[in-house]
Amino acid sequence: MAEVLRLKLLGGLHITLGEAELKGFVSRRAQALLVYLAVTGRAHFRDALAGLLWGELPQRRAAGNLRVVLSNLRHLLPNHLTITRQSVEFNRDAPYWLDVEEFEKRVRSEELGVRGEGAQLVTPNSQLLTRNLHEAVELYQGDFLEGFYISKAPAFEEWMLLEQERLRQMALQALHNLVQYHTLRGEYAAGIKYATRLLALDPWREEAHRELMLLLALTGQRSAALAQYEKCRHLLETELGLEPLEETKALYERIRSTPSYHSVASLRPAFGPVLPFVGRGEEHAVLVDWWKATQQGEGRLALVEGEAGVGKTRLVEEVARYVRARGAIVLEGHCYEFGGNLPYQPIAEALRGCLSRGREGSPSHPGSSASPYFRTSTPLLRCGWRSYPSCCQSCVKCIPTSPNPSAPPGRPPVRGFSRP
Ligand SMILES: Nc1ncnc2c1ncn2[C@@H]1O[C@H](COP(=O)(O)OP(=O)(O)OP(=O)(O)O)[C@@H](O)[C@H]1O
Ligand SMILES: [Mg+2]
Repeated sequence: MAEVLRLKLLGGLHITLGEAELKGFVSRRAQALLVYLAVTGRAHFRDALAGLLWGELPQRRAAGNLRVVLSNLRHLLPNHLTITRQSVEFNRDAPYWLDVEEFEKRVRSEELGVRGEGAQLVTPNSQLLTRNLHEAVELYQGDFLEGFYISKAPAFEEWMLLEQERLRQMALQALHNLVQYHTLRGEYAAGIKYATRLLALDPWREEAHRELMLLLALTGQRSAALAQYEKCRHLLETELGLEPLEETKALYERIRSTPSYHSVASLRPAFGPVLPFVGRGEEHAVLVDWWKATQQGEGRLALVEGEAGVGKTRLVEEVARYVRARGAIVLEGHCYEFGGNLPYQPIAEALRGCLSRGREGSPSHPGSSASPYFRTSTPLLRCGWRSYPSCCQSCVKCIPTSPNPSAPPGRPPVRGFSRP
């Protein structure tokens, strides 16, 4: 039984046969030929291979050199090449492992199942697809044949550079999808890990700088988020003579003027720190997806239910943090068991919070932009059940739950309201 030939080409060139490094190649061109045959995976005419590696030599000398190299490869790998008088082919029936092939297989499986971003990442098989992506980016240890060079072989070099670019683009897309996936699920540490890798491969991707800034801010690393902006700005200016986009500048300003997106003070347990958010990625992604739908004009009401202490408030807080960090206005209102029959209590609280913020803030403060609309609803803020005006009904639609004895005749009885 032939030994397994392992070709590691992402991040350099490393060839082993069985347990040991494969040595004894007559030249770098012999290695290049083996790589070319394995990666292309089809039969090639001898003339074409001679042209690929010795394009600058007369044909007879090139053919002679190819014979020497083929004899060397046949000796080193008697089972892995099919060599005839006309052509040469890598034998896929012999045992082998090729990182490029494994990488592509995993990225392709993801492409088939997940197109684009966002909602599509919340599919029943998204976990499987994402595992493939994780494995793919682990396989991508660096660029294809990084540091490998053979002189006077322009055709081979051109092929190598094209492959390098193609595989790099695949790795960038895989990393981008992983950042999206983890961020949507509120898994910020993983998001930071992949965004950092993405930027190491492609530092000019401004969108990735923004994503990383947000993730850093969301994990309480505000100064690192601001420093990330500086890095981005410096890079664009020195390398491309460009300023960051308005979107990037606005994000920087938002992070700068917000003390912390990190605080989840309401969730702080009696003892110890707030633990990282875990295990509710799917639910987080669904709620964020709904928020995105509302931006397209498709409003939704989400009711989060579950047993006491199961993590309802934490989930809602995390989603609120996520959307707030993206510039959304979040109004918060609560109702309490001891609130009795007080109607619209959470809505009144939410509006009151918004108005007071509007008064405090500058004209650019989120609350101030919302105020003109809410000023028309201020009676609601004063209201008890008896005095609420009809405008309340146009502000919010509440679902009657049970008859309310204190309700005036003809008005819909309301007991409570669950916020998303
Ligand atoms: N996904 C999570 N990851 C980490 N910690 C969590 C998670 N969900 C909840 N916790 C922690 O568990 C505790 C209880 O969670 P939470 O208050 O959200 O539960 P709840 O369902 O709203 O409870 P209640 O029914 O009493 O309102 C909090 O300290 C919270 O930070
Ligand atoms: Mg709760």
